[in-house]
Amino acid sequence: MTRRLTLTRPDDWHLHLRDGSMLDAVTPDSAADFGRALIMPNLVPPVVTGAHAASYRERILAAVPAGADFTPLMTLYLTETTEAGDLVAAARDGIITAVKLYPAGATTNSASGVRDVSAVMPVLEAMADAGIPLCVHGEVTDPEIDIFDREAVFIEHVLDPLRKDLPELRVVMEHVTTADGIDYVRDGGANIAATLTTHHLFINRNHILAGGIRPHYYCLPVAKRESHRRALVAAATSGDPSFFLGTDSAPHLDAAKLSECGCAGIYTAPNTLPCLAQIFEEADALDRLDGFVARHGATFYGVAPNNGTVTLVREDAPQPVPQNRATEEGMLTVFDPMVPIHWRVA
Ligand code: NCD
Ligand code: ZN
Repeated sequence: MTRRLTLTRPDDWHLHLRDGSMLDAVTPDSAADFGRALIMPNLVPPVVTGAHAASYRERILAAVPAGADFTPLMTLYLTETTEAGDLVAAARDGIITAVKLYPAGATTNSASGVRDVSAVMPVLEAMADAGIPLCVHGEVTDPEIDIFDREAVFIEHVLDPLRKDLPELRVVMEHVTTADGIDYVRDGGANIAATLTTHHLFINRNHILAGGIRPHYYCLPVAKRESHRRALVAAATSGDPSFFLGTDSAPHLDAAKLSECGCAGIYTAPNTLPCLAQIFEEADALDRLDGFVARHGATFYGVAPNNGTVTLVREDAPQPVPQNRATEEGMLTVFDPMVPIHWRVA
């Protein structure tokens, strides 16, 4: 059995680092194991201009521990008043790597998002012309639609029509949670890809709801039934370059999670790589982990893989879940995959 596994230094193509004391608390965890991360722009207020992205990037770099090899790649938060000129200039100047579409109200801090995709069509056309990828939170927000159906309905009613109107637009369907999403991306040609999170490879909706409600497993899109989880694992471990890691590590203080209306988001940055190694080992696909964490995403985004490496070690004994993090403002719980993880980062 493999005892050591050396990977190309990975990329996280979907990461929330927040701001202020939370940024300081969580950035070292990502910087320890990842060479680059695509930073989500859903701050309060959101990152909506090239100037905002440039100053946020500086704040992130100030939180990276000395000596760590970690580059934040920035995104802009698309609104119905985004100016195509500012956005294209920010991409041309290397300030941003992608643009994020949040349907208004779909998730944490998405109130300034897009209500009607037709309102942003001119911006999307400019992005297609300039080759700027659009990262999509793929859920409808219609209260009539059951929360477990929102991804599938989004694909049919929003994403597929948009891509038929604008086939040249490069799209990443973020944090796919359904077999429907997997099928759509796998069969969707070269201009669409998907990120898969760490936690959705482990949890199904029973983890959240059966035998007691567990707020630390609540995230958006919400985990679906077991057959969907299995489809996600099959896609991640298939070697198909359309699928790559975006952890969606989304820290919220315990006080915000464990409340009458708890926040959506799971903090997976500290233990993502050991968790993934366990999943890939069980699928007999450890040779495909390097592609999933370090190559497929780089290829889609048109950048070279990172130069460094990271080595994982398999221990006979299950490894403990990393300790919860203490931030200046309170505790932050680390994802517990609820199954034995034998891997650790060397
Ligand atoms: C994310 C957050 O907290 O910012 N939450 C989550 O449940 N994934 C937002 C998001 O990516 O939907
Ligand atoms: Zn996210």
